[in-house]
Formats: sequence, structure tokens, C-alpha cells
Amino acid sequence: MMSSSVLIILIIASVVASIDFSDTRDAEIDQLLKKLNKPALKSIKSPDGDIIDCVHMKNHPIYDHPLFKNHTIQLRPSSYPEGWNNEDSDTKKQSLVNQLWTVNGRCPKNSIPIRRTRREDIVRAKSIKRYGKKDPNSLPQSKATYSANRNFSEHEYSQVVVKGKFHGAKAIINVWKPYVQPDEFSLAQMWVVARPSSNFSEVNTIEVGWQVYKNKYGDDFPRYFIYWTRDGYSDTGCYNLDCPGFVPINQHFAIGAAVQSVSTLDGRQEQFPVTIWKDRHSGHWWLKFSTNLIIGYWPSTLFTHLQTGATEVQWGGEIANKKDQPQHTTTKMGSGNFAQEGWKKASYFRNLEIIDEGEITRPPFGTAYTYMSHESCYNIKPGIHNVWGLYFYYGGPGRNPNCI
Ligand SMILES: *[C@@H]1O[C@H](CO)[C@@H](O)[C@H](O)[C@H]1NC(C)=O
Ligand SMILES: *[C@@H]1O[C@H](CO)[C@@H](O)[C@H](O)[C@H]1NC(C)=O
Ligand SMILES: *[C@@H]1O[C@H](CO)[C@@H](O)[C@H](O)[C@H]1NC(C)=O
Repeated sequence: MMSSSVLIILIIASVVASIDFSDTRDAEIDQLLKKLNKPALKSIKSPDGDIIDCVHMKNHPIYDHPLFKNHTIQLRPSSYPEGWNNEDSDTKKQSLVNQLWTVNGRCPKNSIPIRRTRREDIVRAKSIKRYGKKDPNSLPQSKATYSANRNFSEHEYSQVVVKGKFHGAKAIINVWKPYVQPDEFSLAQMWVVARPSSNFSEVNTIEVGWQVYKNKYGDDFPRYFIYWTRDGYSDTGCYNLDCPGFVPINQHFAIGAAVQSVSTLDGRQEQFPVTIWKDRHSGHWWLKFSTNLIIGYWPSTLFTHLQTGATEVQWGGEIANKKDQPQHTTTKMGSGNFAQEGWKKASYFRNLEIIDEGEITRPPFGTAYTYMSHESCYNIKPGIHNVWGLYFYYGGPGRNPNCI
């Protein structure tokens, strides 16, 4: 029989152990917060609840990356695809995007706006180690590789895909605020991918679009997001600035901020143009919104295979289905309506274009195909139009009598 003093010691030991455990997690959260939230020259509170820190370029997050300790930040692209009017892209003339936080102030010169990460954002994440990372099965047709990994949610897609050799891609993306179940997400994005072999660990991606993701942002506004990985979503890469990698240079645009205007059913349609291209001099991959709003770049040497160009471009919607209930999720994709509903009812991407190895921007007519992972839940319908070029409607409600 155990003596009572031994029992007391055991109880104390287990209490101490559990305190140690939460202390460790707290310390890890503090450490991550300190890394993510740089000293600010100025902080601006947005009416939507975000806090935007204006961080001096000398404290730029890229310097946290071991490969880029000595990086010389490029303040503007050194080359553009053929036929672009480079004047338009002059940073002096850039149009000011209306992000809501800018009503309460602007970031000073030589600083960049960074959306502050709150303690509760990290507390909500299921893992500190994987904070800001997508599930490892986050590219279509990768399921076979990761089907054994039951802990990650299942992803569903409606996309247009094109394969070849590319130095960039463009589209105009329609914005909605779809219903999303807690812990799941719904997004619309463009993927620029280098997939040199069937080995999924070799996949490099650059991604940009909007997403609704309450567990990540703490609310259900659609937000501008970016993503990158160079090992098939395994250990590298993250959303936004959740890890060092992307180099934002724009004084007026905060990645992760909400998209201010959202489309309404039978009402006004809101959209934003997005372009990614490879700078032929530096090799960096630049990101631009609108016609002349240069956001920043992913350095060429951040990647293994994207250094030499992309082999695939994808455009479309994706949702995460947590599969924590017997029925299909009710998370919606796009507007929540199926593609055939069309204008002002279904969400769209239009003017899909690629930039080829000769730096020519053109629609991928003839080579693009569609991919739907679960057509009765979310679908896609492409078309060609004289103003919209190659376009598609896509989306769906999730759970419905044909999707249970
Ligand atoms: C940065 O520069 C220092 C001094 O020149 C050098 O020792 C170091 O190796 C460089 N680091 C990288 C990652 O290039
Ligand atoms: C899944 O989660 C369980 C419990 O948290 C854990 O023990 C297991 O190692 C996880 N499996 C994988 C493949 O990550
Ligand atoms: C896949 O690629 C990774 C990263 O380059 C490598 O470590 C691994 O050995 C490769 N696996 C196979 C089966 O070739």
C-alpha cells in the first residue's frame, strides 16, 4: 500500500508538471509574439479591430530569415513583362488602395504596415510549431501522399489549372463573404507552382488571394492573404508574414487586412486584380494588386525550383472540411452559389492570363482545364468573353441534398 506522504509527493509532482507544461507554452507564445511584432514607429487602430504597426525598414522581418540576414531590399522591380507600361508601375504614382485602417492614419516613410498578431491568435492555433502553416495536404491531387495523415482536414477545390513553363500569372478576383464553419476556411486564390516531379516534398508554391478564416484572424471578414512553401507545405513557408520569406515594400498596404468592400447578391460586384511575375534581372517573384500597387516580392533564393520558373498555375476556390461531423460541412465556397447561377449570384475569376518564358502576357487558351474535387458540393464553369477573356464562375453551398 502506498504511504500517504508518497501519494502527496506524487500529487505535487503532477501539479508541478502541468504548471511547467503551460509555462512552457506561454513562454513559446511570448517568444513567437516577440518575433512577429516588431518595434513600431507608430501604431494605428483600424475600425475593424486590427492594429497596424508601422515597422521601420531596418527592422524588416526578412532579416529574421537565416538566408537573408544581409539581404538588400529591392524597393522596386527591375524588370516587367513585355509590353507593360512601366510608368504605370512607378511607385510614386501608385494608387492608394482603401484598406480600412488607413482612415485612422498612414505609415511614415521608410516603414511598412504590419498587422499585429495578438496573443489569442496564437492561443487559438492548434500548434505553435506549425503556426501560420497550411495543412500538409494543401494542394489538389496530393491526397494520395497524405491520406494516412488523419489529423488534417480534407480540402476541396474548384479550379482552372494550366501546365507549362511560366514566369507569372494574372487574374481579376471577385470578392464575397461566404459562411464558413468555425475552424474551417474558404478562399479564392491564384497558385504559382513549381512541381518538378511526383515527389510532393519538392513542391514550391507562391499563393495570393482572399480568405475567410475565423480561427486564424478572429473574425469572418474576407482578408487579403499570401502564402509560400518550398517543401510541399511540410516545414517551410506560411501565411502572410507569419514567418520570414515575403518582402513587403509597400507603405500603404497591410497583408492580412480585410478587403473593405464585398460583393452582394444581385448587387454591386467587388473585385481586385492580382499579378505575380518573375523579375528577369533579380529573379524575384513580385506581387502587385490593382494596376500599379506593388506590394513586395518573394526572393528567388527562398525557393528551390521556382528559382528557374513555374510549371503550373491554378486559379480557383478551396475550402477546408474538418470532417468533425457525420455530414458534409456547410462551409460555402465563393458566394455560396453554384457556378451556373452566373453574374451577380456566383463568384468569378476573370481575365486569367499567364506570363510565359518570353515574358509575354497572354490568356492560356487551349491549355487550361478544370478540376473539381467534389462537384455536387462545389463546381466550376469556365467561358471566354471579349472583355473578360478566359473566365470562370465557381463555388457552391457545401452540404445540400446531393452533397451529404
Ligand atoms: C552576412 O555577412 C557576414 C559578414 O560579411 C558574413 O559573415 C555572413 O556569412 C553573411 N551571411 C549570409 C547569410 O550571407
Ligand atoms: C494525430 O493526433 C494524435 C493525438 O493528438 C497524435 O497522437 C498522433 O500522433 C497524430 N497523428 C499524426 C499522423 O500526426
Ligand atoms: C523527396 O524530396 C525530398 C526533398 O528533396 C527528399 O529528401 C526525399 O528523399 C525525396 N523522396 C523520394 C522518395 O525521392
